[in-house]
Amino acid sequence: MKPLYLTVTDKHIRYSYEDSDDRSTIDKVYNINAKKTLGDNLDNFKLKLPNDFDVVVILNPIDVELRDTIVSCGNQPIDMGLTMENLLHTPTVGVHDVARLGLKQAASAESEHAGWHLEYYGSYSGKRQYGQESLQTIGNGYFGLRGSYVEAKAGDDYYPGTYVAGVFNQLTTNINNRDIVNEDLVNLPNAQYMTFSIDDGDVFKMTPEMIDNVYRSLDMRTGVFTITMILSLPNGKRLKVITKKVADMKNYHNYSLQYTVQPLNFSGDMRIFSEIDGSVTNTNVERYRSFNGKHLVVDNTKVDGDRAILLAHTKHSGVNIAVGTRIQCPNIVDSELTSNRFQERISQAIAFHVVEGRTYTVEKTVSIYTSLETNSDLEFAVNDHAYHKNFADAVANSMRSWQQIWSNEDIQLSGDITAQKLLRLNEFHATVSAQQHVNQDLDASVGARGLHGEAYRGHIFWDELFILPYYTMHYPQLAKALLMYRYNRLPAAKKYAEANGYKGAMYPWQSGMYGDEQSQSLHLNPITNQWDPDNSRKQRHVSLAIAYNVWNYYNMTEDDDFIKNYGLEMLLNIAKLWISKAEYDPETKKYSINDVMGPDEFHEGYPDRKESGLDNNAYTNIMTSWLFSKVDFLIQKEPEKVVNDNYQRADFTDDNLNDMRNIGKDLKLEFNQDGILGQFEGYFKLKDIDFDYYRRQYGDISRMDRILKSEGDSPDQYQLAKQADALMALYPLKESTFMNILADMGYQIDDPQKFIKDNVNYYLQRTTHGSTLSRIVYSMLALKVNDTELSWKLFYEALTSDYYDIQGGTTAEGIHLGVMGATLNVVTSYFAGVDFRGEELSIDPHFPESWNTLTFNLVFKNAHYYFTVSKDSVTVKADHATDLSFRGKQITLNENEEKTINY
Ligand code: BGC
Repeated sequence: MKPLYLTVTDKHIRYSYEDSDDRSTIDKVYNINAKKTLGDNLDNFKLKLPNDFDVVVILNPIDVELRDTIVSCGNQPIDMGLTMENLLHTPTVGVHDVARLGLKQAASAESEHAGWHLEYYGSYSGKRQYGQESLQTIGNGYFGLRGSYVEAKAGDDYYPGTYVAGVFNQLTTNINNRDIVNEDLVNLPNAQYMTFSIDDGDVFKMTPEMIDNVYRSLDMRTGVFTITMILSLPNGKRLKVITKKVADMKNYHNYSLQYTVQPLNFSGDMRIFSEIDGSVTNTNVERYRSFNGKHLVVDNTKVDGDRAILLAHTKHSGVNIAVGTRIQCPNIVDSELTSNRFQERISQAIAFHVVEGRTYTVEKTVSIYTSLETNSDLEFAVNDHAYHKNFADAVANSMRSWQQIWSNEDIQLSGDITAQKLLRLNEFHATVSAQQHVNQDLDASVGARGLHGEAYRGHIFWDELFILPYYTMHYPQLAKALLMYRYNRLPAAKKYAEANGYKGAMYPWQSGMYGDEQSQSLHLNPITNQWDPDNSRKQRHVSLAIAYNVWNYYNMTEDDDFIKNYGLEMLLNIAKLWISKAEYDPETKKYSINDVMGPDEFHEGYPDRKESGLDNNAYTNIMTSWLFSKVDFLIQKEPEKVVNDNYQRADFTDDNLNDMRNIGKDLKLEFNQDGILGQFEGYFKLKDIDFDYYRRQYGDISRMDRILKSEGDSPDQYQLAKQADALMALYPLKESTFMNILADMGYQIDDPQKFIKDNVNYYLQRTTHGSTLSRIVYSMLALKVNDTELSWKLFYEALTSDYYDIQGGTTAEGIHLGVMGATLNVVTSYFAGVDFRGEELSIDPHFPESWNTLTFNLVFKNAHYYFTVSKDSVTVKADHATDLSFRGKQITLNENEEKTINY
């Protein structure tokens, strides 16, 4: 092992390592520049380091109890372990752990630990704290419980939200004499609340200043979230408080809390409080706060000894909700429990005597039921509820569940502890957002922000396109349950099409409870603080994403029943929408699809047209042509009876089939003289923009739309994009399919490699990555043109986008589930190169230089595959005899036979 030793003080960092040539010890000092931020100092420090060490050892930790790597640096305590690992992706250990375990053992234990834990040291406030709470959310697909301190009430620094999948409510707010209706994922009663008081003192209220020291650790392997903190009260009393939370992954109505206090310098009387607070409102997103956010009406509060129950309903959607708690005090001998019922809240207090240095624990189990998934009386359901014996039992259950979950979905990576941690974080939150056995009981899909916050009001977008393949790969039945959310809203989608003068089914850009359009018509520009018109609903391509997910699910599972009973009906209806949207121009002999927006939300219309909407968006037209070919294929493939039955249900005719065949091969695309595919018709007439000018003015120009609008200008004038659009179809479609579709449409591409290269270069220069969905798509595109350096850079930015909250505050309002899913997809489908989009799996790795091995499994056409991929080999095994291909070469696998392909 090659260690790098650090001694960190407020003024300098002393570092030493062995010279790689003569093995002498090199000792150096980096002086901390007080005029620069600590972050800048550490970035500079990094540049001074050699690159051939594999463990960092901190020689002078100051707080061994919380973590062996905490130091004082630049006059503030920091966890140098976390910092160095983020900076160098190298395990970082403290000197005490090295003494205890030996260097090698300590390093390998830390690598393992880092790969499984999301941790924060120190107290934060504002959006930063909000963002960390989003990322430390626990849940089980039914509910999401934000990783807030349990002592906190909603305010500017903390937001203890609770959400149940599918529980939405609409409220009306009158703004400037206009009634604005919004449908929100409802923040449910806060039952995680616990706090304390000492002697006759006030009830402790969480503020960042009260926290002396704190470590928050989400253990993704077991699902247990732990907060360890030292509090100093203004009266000089100090205490240690340890909170643990765990969601029940199986009995999904439940979560459990353990609250332990230890008086550090006093004895006396304490009370621990527990609440179910139904007075909560939706206030997670600052810019929505001017809208009405009170969704709940509390109907009743009841207490029965250690049990309490709050019954409520949502104001408009009428969902009944019951939240029950049960309190236990495993190690408090003499305690007195009192309860207070308020109109919207129940508060219970356990009073007991404390002795300095001892620990006292209160445990609480919370159960949540709603009338959406529960047929019986909710109060009865809560009372009848099988609680865990105690918290340890809840933890044991969670560990068992997560062991099972990880054996299905873990991506094990060696060679990069940061990427390992963040890939697991993405998988963890995919599981918090939806689970197979849970979603089978629900009528819900995954929102763009998971069950983690209130941005986009919890709505469901085309982001499903980026996450569903991941679910399909590991839990096909979960993907089906999520597709059923869309199937159940087919009538609403038909209504929406009809209301807009179209046929078939038009899914809304933003979908909530009922499947009607939930996009706002106004959008707040934070630069001007003005509400600008929002035409994003014209992104009709969301229906194509749904169609793609139906097809991909079918291709990966061969679930004929699904296609017969639901899938084909959806596809025929979506196809009818596009048939009815296509218009024939006898002059050009081409079909046009007008009045749409592509994924690039910067372009809402033409500079010289009053109405919004664009003509012939390339992504939309290519995907429409692709959809038509798949629908045609299924009509030919499925038995006549199935086809007839679906024709009837979708009111689809042979004329429609003929239309589809005609339109699909003649949809209009535009190319410039250099072979660049126009994002939409007329794109090349738009002006180029001087990005450098705006970069100098504004620094971050990712939201060029807002910048331009604040200057009275419009992004519609320019060739610029928020995210991948013209080339977006290369994300869901194989390159060969993409080229074939273009050829079918009458646009033969003679040199696909050159075409992709030229187009990637062209559009990259014009894209600001204003959506987290952008970089990951371009990372994949950069791989296609062999720009591995760029691909890696964009991949890492996408991978860390929530961890570093690269949009400057949006993680506060929930995770970005789409980029999380897409990142996982790029890792397995492109880096490891296992492509599931064909008849059989095909493998073509583009393995990152700095990674060693990647191990993962997946389900494809009912067979379980196990892969280990490295820079020069692929090892594969399947539990069924199967065929696959490696870079075009056929490979046959016998059942459970392991084959290694060296490349
Ligand atoms: C992106 C959309 C995305 C939405 C929800 C927007 O910023 O431009 O593509 O669907 O966020 O994640």
